Amino acid sequence: MSQDEPTAPGAPRSLRCEYRENPLGLGEARPRFFWQIDDPRRGAAQGAYQIRVASAAHELAHDRADVWDSGRVDTNQSAHVVYGGPALRSRQRYYWQVRTWDAAGQSSPWSDIAWFEMGLLRRGDWKAQWIGRKPRGDNTQLQPSPYLRRAFATTGANIRQARLHLSARGLVEAYINGHRVGDDHFVPGWTDYHQRIQYRTYDVTALVQRGDNVLGAVLADGWYAGHIHRGFRVYGPFPMLLAQLEIEDERGRRQTIATDETWQWAEGPIRSASLFMGETYDATRDLGDWCVPGFDASATMWQVVDVVEPCDAKLLAAAPGPPVRRIMEIRPVAVTEPKPGVFIFDLGQNMVGWCRLYVKGQAGRTITLRHAEVLEPDGMLYTTNLRTARQTDQYTLKGAANGDREVYEPRFTFHGFRYVEVTGLDLPADLPPGRKPDLETITGVVLHSDMPVTGRFECSDPRINQLQSNIVWGQRGNFLEVPTDCPQRDERMGWTGDAQVFMPTACFNMDVAAFFTKWLDDVADAQLPNGAFTNYCPNGPNIESIGAAAWGDAGVICPWRMWEHYADRRALEKMYPRMARWIEFCRIHSSDLVRPDIGYFGDWLSIEAPTAHDLINTAYFAHSTKLMADIAAVLDKARDARKYQRLFERIRRAFQREFVTRSGRVSGESQTAFVLALAFDLLEPAHRDVAARMLTADIDRRKGHLSTGFVGVRDLQPTLTDVGRGDVAWRLMHQTSFPSWLYAVTHGATTIWERWDGWTHDRGFQNPGMNSFNHYAYGCVGQWLYQSVAGIAPDPRPSTGPDANVAGYQRVIVRPLVDPSPKDPVTWVKASYESLHGLIETHWRRDGEQLRLDVRIPANAAATLILPCPDAGRVTESDHPLDAAPAISDVQADGRETRMALGAGCYRFACPWPEKSE
Ligand code: BGC
Repeated sequence: MSQDEPTAPGAPRSLRCEYRENPLGLGEARPRFFWQIDDPRRGAAQGAYQIRVASAAHELAHDRADVWDSGRVDTNQSAHVVYGGPALRSRQRYYWQVRTWDAAGQSSPWSDIAWFEMGLLRRGDWKAQWIGRKPRGDNTQLQPSPYLRRAFATTGANIRQARLHLSARGLVEAYINGHRVGDDHFVPGWTDYHQRIQYRTYDVTALVQRGDNVLGAVLADGWYAGHIHRGFRVYGPFPMLLAQLEIEDERGRRQTIATDETWQWAEGPIRSASLFMGETYDATRDLGDWCVPGFDASATMWQVVDVVEPCDAKLLAAAPGPPVRRIMEIRPVAVTEPKPGVFIFDLGQNMVGWCRLYVKGQAGRTITLRHAEVLEPDGMLYTTNLRTARQTDQYTLKGAANGDREVYEPRFTFHGFRYVEVTGLDLPADLPPGRKPDLETITGVVLHSDMPVTGRFECSDPRINQLQSNIVWGQRGNFLEVPTDCPQRDERMGWTGDAQVFMPTACFNMDVAAFFTKWLDDVADAQLPNGAFTNYCPNGPNIESIGAAAWGDAGVICPWRMWEHYADRRALEKMYPRMARWIEFCRIHSSDLVRPDIGYFGDWLSIEAPTAHDLINTAYFAHSTKLMADIAAVLDKARDARKYQRLFERIRRAFQREFVTRSGRVSGESQTAFVLALAFDLLEPAHRDVAARMLTADIDRRKGHLSTGFVGVRDLQPTLTDVGRGDVAWRLMHQTSFPSWLYAVTHGATTIWERWDGWTHDRGFQNPGMNSFNHYAYGCVGQWLYQSVAGIAPDPRPSTGPDANVAGYQRVIVRPLVDPSPKDPVTWVKASYESLHGLIETHWRRDGEQLRLDVRIPANAAATLILPCPDAGRVTESDHPLDAAPAISDVQADGRETRMALGAGCYRFACPWPEKSE
């Protein structure tokens, strides 16, 4: 131990409640606590914790826990610790802190104080009613957005605090006294509004004033009444508002301003707003200070709301997921003028959100912004792949009096685009030809669900780094409220297959725990009474797509990922009965445990390598059943675990009977068929080698190309690596000709394409009916980059008994896969993942004939390190032999690899660079 090494842990840090920092408006009756251990010592681990919860911060400061004191609990659990005190009360803010003891019994100081505040937990808490404006004229057309207002005076003394509980059927932006409430967008998000409607709570203490106030809101159709994939006005005919402002004065008296028949509405400048079509804004119809006290709303245009409906409070749910926010801004890199007066701005990056427009001109002039992902050969926008989505915003200038520039941003739409066509600009006629508008005319505003970045991956090959960037941009663009297939064409649905394929990668790149907690509610809501999970969620009234293998299976797979990555036992508990019904649905709809072809997607978008649908369906049935056995074991349901294990073994035999020949060929012999059979453990040991050989032979025959579609791709690289053919996986990764990951990269892609052949040199654009340039599914290779190439993987050993809570990277497998490629191999890789327990890092590099590997394991976690070195005696750590290194144990070499157990800490390993195995 060095002299300045601490002798006790520091105060716990990164306190979270329900995955969030100081959450406001919590709906969870028994919230869970998380913290990280601050202890840099090798092998540092938590031996015990104590949590205390109080009604006020000063209580804790005086060592009083007037709500709950867990007492000292001897465990290494530092995540998902469930609140165990008396029932929590609506609206109440609770303050909490934690301290820990290390394994030797030394205690840390108390952490800083964090808090959580409850939302409206009882149905009777809701006083507000749904209000809205009846559509005028032809409601098959888009309608202007209603502006709603209610002026009121406070009745009490000075204001101590104010909260706004806000929801809509549709989308809403709220204002108090002219100030926007919150900084989030697309409130209250997308759910099946007939089953669940989210609300969000805002601290508006600073916006409400003693005396006169105005509470205002602007509504739009959004997903509720606007265009979604399955039509228009799918959940309801027009948007409605539900708002409840609760003001508490310093004497504790509460005044509630709720939506009711006293509200007024008017049409304003938003003439139409649609998620697919765009927004039309006429600034000449600006409503002035409509939301500021003193505004005269007696003009005839301000009418009393014409619809008031009671609120069915049982549908209302506090939103558990992160809100959508503006995340970053992008400046254009170029502007062209392919036709006179038609300017195309290039943002240099395919992105999702909208543009801010800066413009000068006369009142009444209209500027049009159209958005697209790619260009036609003539430099104009290519929009055919958007299908009916128009992605067009229009702004009509009000003509600022002093000739100032006007600024416009839409609010109730989003677009997927890299290029923006701007027309209608008022450029001086006498400018020399070729004069273009300033690049400052527009700025790209990137919006998505606000998820903390948790992963980084970088290596010596810039093309693979670009691929990683494309994967992250695919996630940014498609994690907007729900995980969507694409953000641009008239689709944008929460396709379950796409989500389960990409989820492991998503979990590395960003903290998606809260995001998926919300989406799993959508998955649960959508399940049919017969047990079928749907192929997209949220669902709605006209269910049409259910039960496809690899899609419906997301109902089992995604909760399992929540366990693997976040140790989220509650996600498993909540979904368990539903998963059981899904397995039963698959069983009933199979014949002798073979799930027939029911006409769905198969290995969607594979390349000249069809895989029989019944094979895929049966393989996924087996896979979900095996996961059920593991899930039952985690939930201490031993009987169920045995039952599902037996069922899995029967499906496995059925699979072999139906699809595997005596010599071990898997029917159809596609890459996907072999990958599924291997990855899901469906073959006898002797046949695994045959399948692995045939899989690599197929890749050879295709000259180092893959052929998998959405279903095969997820497991392709991990399976090759597992069967000891990491060299072949590397070969696929380096491939630049079609089909491959780097084909799109070397052709300028900045996001992941829907199809391997979205555009090819020979054929140009693929079928525009299905050709998105921002679909994340093939980006699932990110999982392999993190887990295999960088070697940061959760330990999959079954988690029962004393280790029951160690999923979620409390136990890590570090097994980097060096690149044996003969030509231009990757020579270094650096990656990190901010896990629930803290930062895990690996950095490997070739240094002459040495492999050097730096590893960081956070406190209260441990790792199994596996190095490609046959002789443990040739491995050093910080230049010392392994037996002299603290916190390293169980060193074993098997003639191929050296394994060892690592406690928390930072390590510097070196060993000879592995010799080629072939
Ligand atoms: C979507 C896919 C989805 C699929 C089902 C498509 O239209 O874009 O990503 O999974 O339908 O096959």
